[in-house]
Amino acid sequence: MIEADAVGFGYDDDRVLRNVSLRATPGETFALIGPSGTGKTTLLRLLALFEPPDAGTVRAAGTDAWSLSNGRRVATRRRIGMVFQNRSLFSTSVAHNAGYGLAVRRSWPDRARRWLRGLVGRPPLEESVADALETVGLREAAHRPARSLSAGEAQRVAFARALATEPDVLLLDEPTSNLDPRNTALIEEAVAAARERDIAVVVATHDMQQARRIADRVGVMLDGTLIEQGPTETVFGDPDDERARKFIDGELVY
Ligand SMILES: Nc1ncnc2c1ncn2[C@@H]1O[C@H](COP(=O)(O)OP(=O)(O)OP(=O)(O)O)[C@@H](O)[C@H]1O
Ligand SMILES: [Mg+2]
Repeated sequence: MIEADAVGFGYDDDRVLRNVSLRATPGETFALIGPSGTGKTTLLRLLALFEPPDAGTVRAAGTDAWSLSNGRRVATRRRIGMVFQNRSLFSTSVAHNAGYGLAVRRSWPDRARRWLRGLVGRPPLEESVADALETVGLREAAHRPARSLSAGEAQRVAFARALATEPDVLLLDEPTSNLDPRNTALIEEAVAAARERDIAVVVATHDMQQARRIADRVGVMLDGTLIEQGPTETVFGDPDDERARKFIDGELVY
């Protein structure tokens, strides 16, 4: 489970996030929607424990992550997978790319680096890597060079890299922006598979139909604040907040 409790954050003096509270429990998908620049990526970075909030608490598995020792926080961080928007792949094989997160998480950074430099021969395709590639529909492409992939396939490999680590929490930043309907559907199926595996998923998306399709709960972010959150049906069907309603109706809100 991952949780933000009254989180505040700013770059320099600008307050980017104010009093943000949300949680995603195992097997639950939480979608973050809202206009550009309202703090969705910033919030995902805090949930990924990249940096501490200025105010409030980020809890992983019920514990304030920033009250832990560095070692324990690193261990906690390893239970969290994050897929960035348009993250490029290493120019090695699909399998290397999908297995890289796993190698790093197992504290095999040397081995992972050697893999990347091609110093280790074709590694056995570990079950969790093969399984993750299967989940994103790329099992057959395991030994192809990653540079031969289309953008949609590359994004699915990035997703597989996170899945292969068998995380407790999966954070997805615009996982399907710029993808065609088929690649989008494959990513959405992989999100559903993550939910089946009891992973807590938080996904930022500009695609409101996608939020409707994949999320159990939705939060509407505006100007650094979650102005509305609740079950997907309620947020889309009968939001309390007037600005959330306008945003969902497709009006410009600031
Ligand atoms: N490293 C940084 N330094 C200063 N300001 C930043 C930094 N990163 C983000 N910001 C600012 O923080 C605000 C929130 O940015 P963020 O990327 O979290 O928005 P977002 O909701 O993810 O937007 P989008 O939907 O376009 O991805 C923006 O005003 C942005 O310019
Ligand atoms: Mg963003």
